[in-house]
Amino acid sequence: MTTTLIDGIGLLYTGDPEREEIEDAALVLDDDVVAWVGPSSQAPDADERVDVEGRAVIPGFVDSHAHLVFAGDRTAEFQARMSGEPYTGGGIRTTVAATRRAGDAELAARTLGLVNEMLAQGTTTVEIKSGYGLTVADERRSLRIAARLTDETTFLGAHVVPADMDADSYVRLVAGEMLEACAPYAKWVDVFCERGAFDGDQTREILGAGLKAGLGVRVHANQLGEGPGVRIACELGAASADHCTHLTPDDVDALASSDTVATLLPGAEFSTRSPYPDARRLIDAGATVALATDCNPGSSFTSSMAFCVALAVREMRMTPLEAVRAATYGGARALRRTDVGSLRPGARADVVVLDAPSYVHLAYRPGVPLVHQVFHDGLLLE
Ligand code: NIG
Ligand code: FE
Repeated sequence: MTTTLIDGIGLLYTGDPEREEIEDAALVLDDDVVAWVGPSSQAPDADERVDVEGRAVIPGFVDSHAHLVFAGDRTAEFQARMSGEPYTGGGIRTTVAATRRAGDAELAARTLGLVNEMLAQGTTTVEIKSGYGLTVADERRSLRIAARLTDETTFLGAHVVPADMDADSYVRLVAGEMLEACAPYAKWVDVFCERGAFDGDQTREILGAGLKAGLGVRVHANQLGEGPGVRIACELGAASADHCTHLTPDDVDALASSDTVATLLPGAEFSTRSPYPDARRLIDAGATVALATDCNPGSSFTSSMAFCVALAVREMRMTPLEAVRAATYGGARALRRTDVGSLRPGARADVVVLDAPSYVHLAYRPGVPLVHQVFHDGLLLE
């Protein structure tokens, strides 16, 4: 066992609700767990010492919503959108066709490339969804690839109805044979509950089957318009309702009075030129909010949690503290994890050292690569 003292921390954001910020702080890592957190003046001895020279430290980002298993490119769709075309989700089928054509090695390498891109930017926990296969074999393959890279795998066979099937037969397939083939590789089940994708009844049927198969529930809800997604998520005890862009007062109440986290994905609003969700209204009502990238080739092709923090502060009236909390502790809540998203004794040693005196710089210096060092599972990445 090797203990490492990270000393000289100008400002530590711990992600621990009991004691969120500590100035002039230090941390001790014991292999892959956090052993001690506190003021530098009281730090215990350790085998090794790293001096971060006044920099800020935060827990590794927890990106609780990402679609990383895909092939192909949708640059043209993005260009068309920036010339005024609306986003409808119709482009999902373009990515499905490219993903089905890709070989296993290509698909695995692309997914790993994105996970590494995230890690270099301070994301030490990522959720990865299927959803660009939409056949039993292709969904299962996507999840097998994802499961080699993260514990947080999500079966999203219900992303859209594939072009060659009718909706009823596809829902039956997803809730039956496809779920059975995918469940061994998935922790969660998700449905894109939206006009043009899956309606409330179809969503309930698929999520209910997922629950029976032992999976936890998360829902793509209320992204493009109001609908039943958020209410279904709260009723079923989903870990998160994701997007939450178009909410009625009842939706806000349901989120505020449940354990379902409202996961906001401002990269999607940025890249689809849509109005942002009202984070202020959710936080003021008492809902738990997470921020995630939604990294995918269509609606949000960013892997940067720092960018999402900056958007949340500038565009969604979140304070810098609320945004960094949502990107770490909030993401962990959305994945029902207590071992990540915070730096407290017993937590996983996922630590990001910022080239900045404060986490506020994530929003104050948007677009600037501020990650100085990343410790993942206690190992310093070079
Ligand atoms: O979360 N909304 C559905 N799924 C993705 C978009 C997928 C795509 O456009 O390829 C999302 O935004
Ligand atoms: Fe998504």
